[in-house]
Amino acid sequence: MKILAIETSCDDTAISIVEVKGSLKKPVFKVLAHNISSQTKIHEQWGGVVPSLAKREHGKNLIPLLIKSLQDAKLFDIQSRKIRVFQDDKNNKFKKKIEKILDREPELREQFLQAIPTLKIPKIDAIAVTKGPGLEPALWVGINFAKALAQVWDKPLYPINHLEGHILASLATPQKISFPSISLIVSGGHTELVLSKDWLKYKIVGRTRDDAVGEAFDKVARILGLPYPGGPEISKLALQATTKDSPLGTSQGKSLGEGAIKLPRPMLHSGDLDFSFSGIKTAVLYMVQKLKAENKFTDGIKAEIAHDFQNAVIEVIIAKTLTATKKFKAKTIIAGGGVIANSSLREALQKNTEKEGLNLLIPELSYSTDNATMIALAAGFRLLAGKSKKSSSFKAEGNLNLK
Ligand code: KG4
Ligand code: ZN
Repeated sequence: MKILAIETSCDDTAISIVEVKGSLKKPVFKVLAHNISSQTKIHEQWGGVVPSLAKREHGKNLIPLLIKSLQDAKLFDIQSRKIRVFQDDKNNKFKKKIEKILDREPELREQFLQAIPTLKIPKIDAIAVTKGPGLEPALWVGINFAKALAQVWDKPLYPINHLEGHILASLATPQKISFPSISLIVSGGHTELVLSKDWLKYKIVGRTRDDAVGEAFDKVARILGLPYPGGPEISKLALQATTKDSPLGTSQGKSLGEGAIKLPRPMLHSGDLDFSFSGIKTAVLYMVQKLKAENKFTDGIKAEIAHDFQNAVIEVIIAKTLTATKKFKAKTIIAGGGVIANSSLREALQKNTEKEGLNLLIPELSYSTDNATMIALAAGFRLLAGKSKKSSSFKAEGNLNLK
């Protein structure tokens, strides 16, 4: 079974095609196409994602990305005659239906009606698309595109939860999983610990009370004068710090070349599984204001702040994740979300879970930040489990929860 998946929940337009075989306990996935069109250059100048610009760019990117994906998967074929639904469309009834679905995306509508009718219907079995959570104007573009394609190609359409995609992203290659498991989602919009007692069953047991961890990375980066998105920038800058202690090491703040930086470790001892990252952002803001007033905001100090901020965040994430595994007697930790691309976090997770004899599943870098392969995987798992619900009439849900 081949699944074509579409993801447009934030500022990356992504399309993947994944072949799914095997069973729920022994799934076999083959990624036939994995394409992402980044909008970083567009949003960078605004210091963050602008929803209306994201919507417009998704509309521009989807058709070229679809063609590239079909080519990668060797499913691309054009013909001189229009495909049957358009050939037989005497009064333009079908065309009008498609125009109505794409009514709000004028650029996509035009491209769609030019390209899709002469494209041979590809041999795929299903279409999956992110329904939420995310930015609604952005989500809608992917959803409307998926609905139009499903109509024209007469394929079943499956709405998918973006967070389930992040959780299942590390399962692209076969993995051993034992239940209960704890999933750690760390992204731009979410910081959650999720308990699973079985496949595709989720219960949120810890979450951020304010900012998501990726959001904190992005905001602290902005305070430090780094470009958007801040996560990768902070991690690059942290490498330049003269302090080389690793998270959970013992020497924080003791051997600094540029003066002692010691940020708070928020909620580390709160006794529950919740997080909070807005206080540490404010702490960095006050620290930077003070350093600037004293003319001490040097490049060296900036690197020290990035380093200690990253360590603080990682310490809290690791501590809470390990507490959750103990509390629920989990032996498997599944990590996912954009911040999992952070190499220090990956290393710290690997080291600390190994020490505790836990099985850590971590996605490949290209499946960590937003992508459509994870959406195809989620649809694949649901189809293998007989738990998929096809639908042609769902809405974008910006605040969709994981259930
Ligand atoms: O999952 P994702 O691509 O989009 C959302 O669903 O939000 O996550 C994006 C977030 C951004 O906040 C970005 O700064 C962060 O992931 N991020 C990182 C790194 N790469 C991306 N944070 C820290 N270190 C990184 N290397
Ligand atoms: Zn995401």
